[in-house]
Amino acid sequence: MDGVTLFNICPHGDNRGELYALEYQKELPFVIRRVYYICNVPGSNIKRGFHAHKKLRQAIICLGGSCSITVDNGKIKEIYLLDKPNKLLILDAGLWREINNFSANATLVVLASDVYDENDYIRDYHEFILWRGGQK
Ligand code: TYD
Repeated sequence: MDGVTLFNICPHGDNRGELYALEYQKELPFVIRRVYYICNVPGSNIKRGFHAHKKLRQAIICLGGSCSITVDNGKIKEIYLLDKPNKLLILDAGLWREINNFSANATLVVLASDVYDENDYIRDYHEFILWRGGQK
């Protein structure tokens, strides 16, 4: 889907373990202005997200455990499984996302291109569809 990239980061691995680096203009197409993480999700029935961003770009990694992210561009949906710490999902702006199937120990780290701004959120799906239509 346009605006979504999922790729495997190459480890700087040796017999001491794996080290992963995320660097601007290499793995990351934007400068990080905020980091947040989600952990201790109390059950696999929990669903999060249910919003889109007007401008924000994000890079998402599941550092431990696993979860699924459904990305919706208003026409099609794709499901991305994040189950390894080397899988990096990069989402451009303008995509609806839902996060579910959290495993017991899931730790989801989100690197964001800007500081928190509630005005950048679209939290109503119908509004998202209307907004997408107005972007063309
Ligand atoms: P919310 O958007 O509901 O999380 P999710 O997208 O995972 O469903 O955010 C939960 C709360 O945390 C909400 O009150 C907004 C707040 N919040 C911040 O204060 N800063 C942040 O960077 C984020 C992502 C959320």
